[in-house]
Amino acid sequence: MNFELSEEHLMIQQAARDFANAELLPGVCERDEKGIFPMEQIRKMGELGFMGMMVSPEYGGGGMDTISYVLAMEEISKVDASASVVMSVNNSLVCWGLETYGNEEQKQKYLVPMASGKVHGAFLLSEPEAGSDATSQRTTAFDQGDYYLLNGTKNWITNGSTADYYLVIAQSDVEAGHRGINAFIVEKAWDGVTVGKKEDKMGIRGSDTHSIMFQDVKVPKENRIGENGFGFKFAMKTLAGGRIGIASQALGIASGAYERALAYSKERKAFGKEIMNHQAIQFKLADMATEIEAARLLCLRAAWLKDQKQDYGLASSMAKVFASETAMKTTTEAVQVHGGYGYVREYHVERMMRDAKITQIYEGTSEVNRIVISRAILK
Ligand code: CAA
Repeated sequence: MNFELSEEHLMIQQAARDFANAELLPGVCERDEKGIFPMEQIRKMGELGFMGMMVSPEYGGGGMDTISYVLAMEEISKVDASASVVMSVNNSLVCWGLETYGNEEQKQKYLVPMASGKVHGAFLLSEPEAGSDATSQRTTAFDQGDYYLLNGTKNWITNGSTADYYLVIAQSDVEAGHRGINAFIVEKAWDGVTVGKKEDKMGIRGSDTHSIMFQDVKVPKENRIGENGFGFKFAMKTLAGGRIGIASQALGIASGAYERALAYSKERKAFGKEIMNHQAIQFKLADMATEIEAARLLCLRAAWLKDQKQDYGLASSMAKVFASETAMKTTTEAVQVHGGYGYVREYHVERMMRDAKITQIYEGTSEVNRIVISRAILK
């Protein structure tokens, strides 16, 4: 067992840290306050290779491993969790799903522009009545011979208005239940696709979250991913990797808040000494550091299993549950360490506390991920 990062891993980590501090930090508070999407920054992330990190260079990606992805996600998320969710969805849900299960024409047409960061994608599974219960899809895509006719509404879609391409999960055979579900590549520009209202969210306010409506959208047959009826398994397999991305996002939010709390505890004086010299603060910092380290190890282990082509579904759900709960706990304590300053915007930790909450909700709530874990350990 070797816990050391390679030279290459350290370089990627440093590059992501430098980018986050130089390009994301300056406007992060304003984007959060006004709900501005970091389009220019996302384009630069694409140019630096952060939007298709694990995709093979043959398809315009960085050809890096999942460990590198976790390291970069942590650094970007330390500073701006809105930018990192865009990165996570494009890398692990959209690009990975397409590269693993798409055919050559689909990869050339859709994966290449998304992996090189020229455009980005979105993953459309959730519906008003199919959030955690993902088999209950109401969106339909019925076979009409040359094309599928797509109708329905998807909710809470990350990158909903800024993505050019959507991976859409829809029911093609109602009688067949989850075995009748398909996955399709849909272009936002097609007739019948409407971007609905933007959600006014508690956190990750710089990311765009929308409902998307489909009315009689003609999806060409060649845009179905995989065999007929493969859509639900496609979604589950893709989400297993996506959960490594969101676990790393949660890890980054936690470590960003911890670093701010640590720095503040060395500056702020109370009762005649820096607050870091009070045991009440020391114990908080000790708990934060320990739990973040445990979360990091869980993220890296899930990534390592994926890179070794071993089963990583259990490990990714464990990482997601633990890292997201660590993010919530650590950011809450970071606000506490800052006292009154923690409750106002300029000290960043209140934003981090709001951003942390979503990591317990998307890509499977903590409860759904506990279902995945308990099924795996009980089977
Ligand atoms: N890999 C392959 N197949 C899988 C699988 C996996 N990881 N998990 C389940 N399946 C298969 C099962 O084998 C089964 O197939 P068969 O009947 O052919 O054997 C089929 O899928 C149905 O499985 P279950 O009976 O276990 O399904 P279920 O209804 O009990 O639900 C669940 C399982 C884990 C709760 C699932 O519904 C789930 O993961 N829900 C959460 C959905 C989610 O994460 N949504 C996130 C939306 S995307 C997002 O959030 C992006 C963003 O904004 C950042």
